[in-house]
Amino acid sequence: MTHRLLHGKRGIIFGALDEHSLAWRAALKIKEEGGTFVLTNTPVALRLGTVHQLAETCQAQVISADATIVEDLENLFDQAQDILGGKVDFILHSIGMSPNVRKQRSYGDLNYEWFLKAMDISALSFHKILQTAEKKDAMNEWGSIVALSYIAAQRTFPDYSDMAQAKAMLESIARSYGYRFAKSKKVRVNTISQSPTPTTAGNGVRGFEKFYTYAQHMSPLGNASAEDCANYIVLMFSDLSRMVTMQNLMHDGGFSSTGITEEILGIL
Ligand SMILES: NC(=O)c1ccc[n+]([C@@H]2O[C@H](COP(=O)([O-])OP(=O)(O)OC[C@H]3O[C@@H](n4cnc5c(N)ncnc54)[C@H](O)[C@@H]3O)[C@@H](O)[C@H]2O)c1
Repeated sequence: MTHRLLHGKRGIIFGALDEHSLAWRAALKIKEEGGTFVLTNTPVALRLGTVHQLAETCQAQVISADATIVEDLENLFDQAQDILGGKVDFILHSIGMSPNVRKQRSYGDLNYEWFLKAMDISALSFHKILQTAEKKDAMNEWGSIVALSYIAAQRTFPDYSDMAQAKAMLESIARSYGYRFAKSKKVRVNTISQSPTPTTAGNGVRGFEKFYTYAQHMSPLGNASAEDCANYIVLMFSDLSRMVTMQNLMHDGGFSSTGITEEILGIL
């Protein structure tokens, strides 16, 4: 059922790689709710993934940009405004990658160049996007910007490794830039802390399946799916959430407030 919550709104969606991506589901839902947007990802993701299929379904244009390169972002914001016919109302940052996690390096044996790369891709890119949007004056008043996070920013999950630091930084950037953007343009900036979800990035974490099952048993409502996440993103881009900013919003079926469940006790 569609409510046309995003009718007339324009935006940029980062991070759709294939049909499992959280950004992919979000794009379909945003389209369904009346939003128009451009899709963006790195040149290699555009080559190896299936973004062009999504673009066809959503009648969206695809712009290549590496979110760690400011010149790419400047070009993206210029092109996006030309294509969409004006400033943007929403931005989704759905970007994450850690070479240390991918290559299963132990937390006591991290490669620091890779660590910095993970921070740049997964957290600093958010600041670069926000700063470029502000410098280009590319956001409409009462716009909404969302990045996707994970509860490892607050609690330790050993195999999440340096991505935990990246997510802590991401959430901190949302608060700091959220203050600035609220004052200057009434733009809100939030992170959504999503349940484990089977995607390319999710499956890259060692032991993901057990991790997913554990979270499922620990969440009174069960894990939030990619579809649920897309719905929450729509809500955050709609005018129904216009006074919510600088928040890390738990979207996890109750996981973050649960100490233990009957299901986990039953297994022990
Ligand atoms: N899947 C989960 O369990 C889960 C849970 C909570 C939060 N998240 C977060 O959701 C976001 C999306 O991940 P996903 O699970 O959909 O996986 P995904 O692998 O489908 O998406 C990650 C995206 O990041 C893009 N990316 C990597 N480097 C980039 C760069 N330099 N510039 C621009 N884009 C770049 C990739 O091309 C890919 O499209 C990530 O921030 C992830 O940490 C995922």
